[in-house]
Amino acid sequence: MSIINETINLLENRVSIRRFSDASVEPHLINAVLHAAFRAPTSSNIQAYSVIVVRNRDTKAALSAVTGNQQHVLNAPIFLAFCADLTRIEYATNKNGHNMEDNNLEIGLVSSLDAALVGMSAYLAAESTGLRGVMIGAVRNNALETARILGLPHRVYCVYGMCLGWPSESPPQKPRMPFNTLVHGERYGITLDGDPIEHSVESYDTQLAQHYRGMGKTTTDDSWSHDMDQKFVPQLRDQLREELQTLGFDFR
Ligand SMILES: Cc1cc2nc3c(=O)[nH]c(=O)nc-3n(C[C@H](O)[C@H](O)[C@H](O)COP(=O)(O)O)c2cc1C
Repeated sequence: MSIINETINLLENRVSIRRFSDASVEPHLINAVLHAAFRAPTSSNIQAYSVIVVRNRDTKAALSAVTGNQQHVLNAPIFLAFCADLTRIEYATNKNGHNMEDNNLEIGLVSSLDAALVGMSAYLAAESTGLRGVMIGAVRNNALETARILGLPHRVYCVYGMCLGWPSESPPQKPRMPFNTLVHGERYGITLDGDPIEHSVESYDTQLAQHYRGMGKTTTDDSWSHDMDQKFVPQLRDQLREELQTLGFDFR
């Protein structure tokens, strides 16, 4: 029996939107979205995030350049930068005679997780008002330049951004891998029904190729596998660890 309510319906129907109308997005709407998002759970109540609300076209143009000239970054009325922010924890530790010099992987991870949870909450809250958008990880193409553009102090980095606005496109949903590939019952490799989980990459490759071709996009027959190989070999953003270290996060 399927369960339908407003939230599930919103999630079941969501798709990334990259084209927006010129209609403005009122500040009170963004404030309401962010107020709601800040109720997201946060590891040990650290609240180690900050959000930068960008409307200025020159700033969006500079950010778009970092992202490989993604046009939606320039054209979205609102760009939200979701940042991991250790400055307030640093203040607290300094007050107690300590410092954050040797911060480790754990604090980098939890602050990034915090930023992710707040961002997804904001995304959902925004969608509930009719706003639409897309997340932008390509700000990490050059984490230092993104930090410079946004004026981020030491111990803050932009984990990802988000374009928001009123939609002017309605693309078909991108298929997902089968439920029984992604969900394991009790132990890895067994479906909730107790069957062995099937390796579904080949069938998903075919499904995704059909999806892209249906949209008039060129792709290979092994669409997803091909994309993953292209994206991660050679390794993506190999300079990121050093850049984040410069910004005050130690991910070693
Ligand atoms: C953390 C994160 C970073 C992303 N970065 C980008 C990006 O830089 N540019 C872009 O156009 N889409 C970006 N996306 C959107 C994904 O490409 C998209 O969610 C995925 O292809 C699935 O499509 P759907 O959201 O329409 O279902 C990002 C999504 C996430 C979660």
